[in-house]
Amino acid sequence: MPKLAAGNWKMNGLDDSLAEIDALVAAHPAPGCDVLLCLPATLLTRAAGHIAGTAVMIGAQDCHPATSGAHTGDISAPMLADAGASYVILGHSERRADHGETDALVAEKAIAAATAGLTPIICVGETLDQRDAGDTLDVVGTQLSGSVPPALGNVVIAYEPVWAIGTGKVPTLEQIGEVHGFIRSQLQGMGATFLADATPILYGGSVKPSNAAEIFAVADVDGALVGGASLKAADFSGIIAALEAA
Ligand code: PGA
Repeated sequence: MPKLAAGNWKMNGLDDSLAEIDALVAAHPAPGCDVLLCLPATLLTRAAGHIAGTAVMIGAQDCHPATSGAHTGDISAPMLADAGASYVILGHSERRADHGETDALVAEKAIAAATAGLTPIICVGETLDQRDAGDTLDVVGTQLSGSVPPALGNVVIAYEPVWAIGTGKVPTLEQIGEVHGFIRSQLQGMGATFLADATPILYGGSVKPSNAAEIFAVADVDGALVGGASLKAADFSGIIAALEAA
């Protein structure tokens, strides 16, 4: 099972942030896990020059389902691949909330991404109201079956409870383990082209160097999708080190 430490810079990063990429590369010349930074599209081409010949990969945070055309302001999967991306985050809860993205749209984007040679990182996760109502597994199951096309050759799943993103709140290790085990069993039941047992399932939501090791020790946690703590190389490095040791 490939382990993956993925950073999500969200709408952060200007030219001076490229120094963080250089620092990350210097700190992990031969990482013992896959290391990925999902950057704003504006930085991809410049970042590609900084990671060339290194083990660090770059990715994007969204793509349009079409390959090209009259879609002002959007970016297609082939454009992201052309800019040096090898992964793309899809269906992040911020996009589901801010842009009304549905499971069906996320699935369309995933096919577009895979067709362009990108690995989609498909995000699922419940709100606090849904968890409090006891609906977590129903919500996650519906998102998985609606957003993850079984015909994909390769996919990464990220479980990100909406209430844990950027809040400093983290589910208990039991709660993380329950949802990750559920996701694995759902993937196994999909009759998919991709191998369910070889699909990394990332945890995301307030992961930091101080809590990473205990999260990575949970069964079926194959890495992390990290927002705030991926912006600084020193913080992200601590998370990578914890994953290498897991
Ligand atoms: P966070 O964000 O690590 O800042 O909580 C995670 C994410 O949204 O992917």
